[in-house]
Amino acid sequence: METLEVKAGIDDILKKYPDAERDKLILILQEVQEAVGYISKEAIIRISEHLRLPASKIYGVATFYNQFRLSPIGKYHIQLCRGTACHVKGSKAVLDKILQYLKIDAGKTTRDGLFSVETVACIGACGLAPVIAINGKFYAKVTPDSVIKIIEELQKGV
Ligand code: FES
Repeated sequence: METLEVKAGIDDILKKYPDAERDKLILILQEVQEAVGYISKEAIIRISEHLRLPASKIYGVATFYNQFRLSPIGKYHIQLCRGTACHVKGSKAVLDKILQYLKIDAGKTTRDGLFSVETVACIGACGLAPVIAINGKFYAKVTPDSVIKIIEELQKGV
């Protein structure tokens, strides 16, 4: 269920593209995500009506590009750097451990709404590799074990 503000936000974006066709779909999805934080079912329906395209097509595009989120971010949003320096220092193992522990895929949010995980390109802190950011706070030189301790601490603080 979306708030009136969210609906108005989506409508405002669509109004900017009165005669838009399929070629504007990515742009519209990007703007909606920036304004609302994710691509909701309601947004997909409204975009599909506006562009006169089947909702299944909009959904297909939104799921194809991993820049789009289909659920709201969690209370704790974990961004894991997959840049080269972090990769060389083991970011993949850290990512795998986080996803396994939280039982979600990258780009998803836990059922309780507490955690969401996103992989990002270099966040400019290569000297701290491998690095994650949680709600914008950086954690340096994380390991598969240390990252679980960080998550557990956040869970305890709930
Ligand atoms: S590669 Fe991870 S911060 Fe630069």
